[in-house]
Amino acid sequence: MAPPIDLKTICPVSEIVNKMNSLYGRDLLCTQDWSIDELEKALDLSFEFKANRFDHALNNCLDRRTFFMFFYNPSVRTRQSFEAAATELGGHAQFLEPKSMRLKSAKSAGESIEDAANVMSRYACGIGIRILETALEHYGQGHEMLQEYAKYASIPIVSMAHDRFHPCQGLADVMGMRMHAGKNLKGKKILQVWGKGALVRSWCSVQESILINSRLGMDVTLAHPEGYDLDPEVIKWCEENAAASGGNFEVVHDLEEGYKGSDFVYSRNWMTSGFYGMMQSKGVDAAKKKEIELASMHDEWITTSDWMSKTNDAFFTHCGPVDRNAEVTDEVCDSPKSIVYDVAENRLHVQKAIMALTMAKI
Ligand code: CP
Repeated sequence: MAPPIDLKTICPVSEIVNKMNSLYGRDLLCTQDWSIDELEKALDLSFEFKANRFDHALNNCLDRRTFFMFFYNPSVRTRQSFEAAATELGGHAQFLEPKSMRLKSAKSAGESIEDAANVMSRYACGIGIRILETALEHYGQGHEMLQEYAKYASIPIVSMAHDRFHPCQGLADVMGMRMHAGKNLKGKKILQVWGKGALVRSWCSVQESILINSRLGMDVTLAHPEGYDLDPEVIKWCEENAAASGGNFEVVHDLEEGYKGSDFVYSRNWMTSGFYGMMQSKGVDAAKKKEIELASMHDEWITTSDWMSKTNDAFFTHCGPVDRNAEVTDEVCDSPKSIVYDVAENRLHVQKAIMALTMAKI
């Protein structure tokens, strides 16, 4: 690992900084891997960064440090917010296209993860990886790959969205809800609802959302048509989280029941579990076509003003990119109750906090 910066020499040490040491060097593959206290530290620092964007004691904490980003799949928010985050912390985020590096992956031979991780640990302060379905052969393979990088790298590995989880998004979602409903979200109902659409989305953002929100004591209702079940292990963790936090977690297939009394509505399309098998046997295009056909059978699964009127004057949230007039109508997405742009902005603050906490020695 690159020699750490002694921040005490370059900035005053606030109370929050003093509490940060435990996270130095840690990976972030899923929020479930961090304790509640650690997540709260990251959220507190995210709010500090938001309040003091260009005037925070840690603004130089990655001075001359480099964060590597591998993108196997496209991105708007994640790439740009990580680049901005590194800049604002005095460092640099380097965009890397894996295919230009001859790295071994699910679909290509190349340099071993052990060697690549060891070499990159000599250059950088952290590595972010995005790898989603179309770059994989089966569900879970992306997570296994990140775990392998984490095993061999001596610098933190951060998921920038992989097949199972999207931790930076989950934290930004919570930050957005807290901005509008206060710090204590216990007892608030969030409806995580499947939305129709043609984009054939990953499970990662949705699984991260139901995990972190059940952990923080919210009443989480997951609503989807029959056939859109998520990872059973994640569902089990959500049930355990809710039991531990005093929240509630339930899965429903009825929209009326889902929307009723909600304080937050988060609609999002996701694929069926049949996607991977179809992709292997018939190819990506055929698998996407099949998913679009299946999704088109659920026309009523769109967040409209009518559905929002059944809620407790809910805020509308979404991780982006929004599939307008499929997952949600323009009217709802552009309404004063929509927090989608706040959540997108929060990616920047949250990632600054994650990088400062895990990659800068305090
Ligand atoms: N929410 C999110 O990760 O957006 P991007 O795919 O644009 O990075």
